[in-house]
Amino acid sequence: MEWSAGRTQVNSWNEWDPLRHVIVGRATDCHIPPNEPALEAKVPEDSDMRGMWGKRPQESIDRGNELLDGFAALLEARGIRVDRPDPIDFSQPVTTPDFHTGSQFGCMPPRDVLLTVGHEMLEATMSYRCRWFEYLCYRPLMQRYFEEDPRFRHEAAPKPRLTDADYHKDYLSEKIGVEKRLQWAADKHFVTTEEEPLFDAADVLRFGRDLVVQHGFTTNQKGIEWLRRHFPDHRVHAVNFPGDPYPIHIDATFTPLRPGLILNNPQRRLPEGQREMFHRNGWEIVDAAQPAHNSPPPLCYSSTWLSMNVLVLDPKTVCVEKSEVYQAEQMDRLGMEVIPVELRDAYAFGGGLHCCTADVYREGGCEDYFPKA
Ligand code: GLY
Repeated sequence: MEWSAGRTQVNSWNEWDPLRHVIVGRATDCHIPPNEPALEAKVPEDSDMRGMWGKRPQESIDRGNELLDGFAALLEARGIRVDRPDPIDFSQPVTTPDFHTGSQFGCMPPRDVLLTVGHEMLEATMSYRCRWFEYLCYRPLMQRYFEEDPRFRHEAAPKPRLTDADYHKDYLSEKIGVEKRLQWAADKHFVTTEEEPLFDAADVLRFGRDLVVQHGFTTNQKGIEWLRRHFPDHRVHAVNFPGDPYPIHIDATFTPLRPGLILNNPQRRLPEGQREMFHRNGWEIVDAAQPAHNSPPPLCYSSTWLSMNVLVLDPKTVCVEKSEVYQAEQMDRLGMEVIPVELRDAYAFGGGLHCCTADVYREGGCEDYFPKA
């Protein structure tokens, strides 16, 4: 069925087909949550955020929203329909029979929570206690899509219990050191245990019939197995990136731009054995350009590699953060038209241009890009 702006259709099979409808997150009421096992492992050891919690400064929230609204307006001006989540009161604690934590997080980034595969949008289990209720911010949109698109499948993965058994205790120390973290990452010893299936949607990249999923802090092997059973018509591939001492979310590490071309973070190269399926099928994996910054902005969870967290609008057009001049130059050399988008002051809310969006509709169907098994 052809795309029409007035009729909601959920359909997106990959990261690059022409984008027509997308969700863009909001910074409203975003909190730095209190410490919990998953955060203890993730917040960089030298981060200015250690030991802090509470609502983020209002002026940073206003600035974040200004940039996110600007990005939404830019997409709309290109004819892309943009929807936004409804923030809840993130100062509310999260209490279940299994755990309690003092506040929630926010409704940035939608990419972490929602995985769109074809006509389905799947709410991820999530792996942080403070993000347990984040799906509620998207429920008004999910309800609307359900009413408007008879093919839409709204799914939610089993809510995890997130007891202490979900987290390895040796990660619960402020001083582990990068060397030990890299060894643990190489050994696939991550903060999450195999107690129950866990995944964040931002650990999944969609390549038509193939889903590529990062095994790391936020997605465990049981989570990958759950995805395999949930999508029986797909091939689900587990990957890991040993050079990343804080491996959460795949989209500042591995970035497909179009059929046959992927950018890979040069500090987090895909291991040789895991490249075979790409090479056998004629895909090129090239090192991403260096970030333009030496450090992330204040109160930011992410690394400087949000430089490669780009949003592909179609196989020839890509949104790149405005200050990431080296990444933009590389895109230009790779034959992409670059749309610069100012977003750096919103990075602290959880990510860059790919993170802050979730696909609703891209043109095209489910292709097989890896026919040579
Ligand atoms: N995984 C997100 C980052 O590199 O910061």
